[in-house]
Amino acid sequence: MNLILMGLPGAGKGTQAEKIIEKYQIPHISTGDMFRSAIKEGTELGKQAKSFMDQGALVPDEVTIGIVRERLGKSDCQNGFLLDGFPRTIAQAEALEELLTELNAPIDYVLHVDVPQDKLLDRLTGRRICPECGATYHVIYNPPKVADTCDNDGARLIQREDDRRETVAKRIEVNVEQTQPLLDFYQTKGYLVTVNGDQDISDVFEAIDQKLQTL
Ligand code: AP5
Ligand code: MG
Repeated sequence: MNLILMGLPGAGKGTQAEKIIEKYQIPHISTGDMFRSAIKEGTELGKQAKSFMDQGALVPDEVTIGIVRERLGKSDCQNGFLLDGFPRTIAQAEALEELLTELNAPIDYVLHVDVPQDKLLDRLTGRRICPECGATYHVIYNPPKVADTCDNDGARLIQREDDRRETVAKRIEVNVEQTQPLLDFYQTKGYLVTVNGDQDISDVFEAIDQKLQTL
């Protein structure tokens, strides 16, 4: 199954991705996660991405398309993949269409996790992540069993650098602008499935899963 997860910052893409890949055993390809690991490793890609991410801006299309092209070419994507946070511009969507035609891997669904904008700030400023395994929590909506500690590996949870209040506002603004044209693009192609993301995490997953079971 070849899937794309779309949604504004904080909509719950990463949270739902964890559940989808666990059930369907497909690789999770998050451009945000790829940039964050490149920054942590201090690679050239990380240096290029950091200044944009710190400002809440998008990383340039050439860079982003390049890393996705390389990743989708790997053998573990042959039986499907879940793209999270890519594409985010029409140029990226067009490049992806071309790439997937080359790979003979047509998109099954574009899952749009829809959450009202006024809920996002709370979700992002209360988010905590595990620096070791990447698991996502929320101090109120999805707390770990032991405060500040990852359920999977016991690591101490941290806040993402771009979850500071000023950066969050900018990220939301940039993404709101880019999202509607992309939704229209995929609606026209007939791939778009909109899921209500403003309900419990398990109910969002159930709505997504119902759709996936039709494949
Ligand atoms: P990226 O890492 O993709 O960030 P984002 O799009 O801003 O989305 P988030 O990861 O912040 O949110 P999410 O939807 O995954 O929510 P989550 O599940 O964590 O990108 C980061 C940056 O990289 C970008 O700003 C850009 O600079 C660059 N970049 C990445 N891709 C790019 C691209 N294609 N082109 C150019 N640049 C790119 O949930 C959020 C919180 O809410 C958590 O605490 C969670 O526990 C909680 N939560 C989740 N679901 C629910 C629910 N149903 N109810 C209550 N709480 C919930
Ligand atoms: Mg995410």
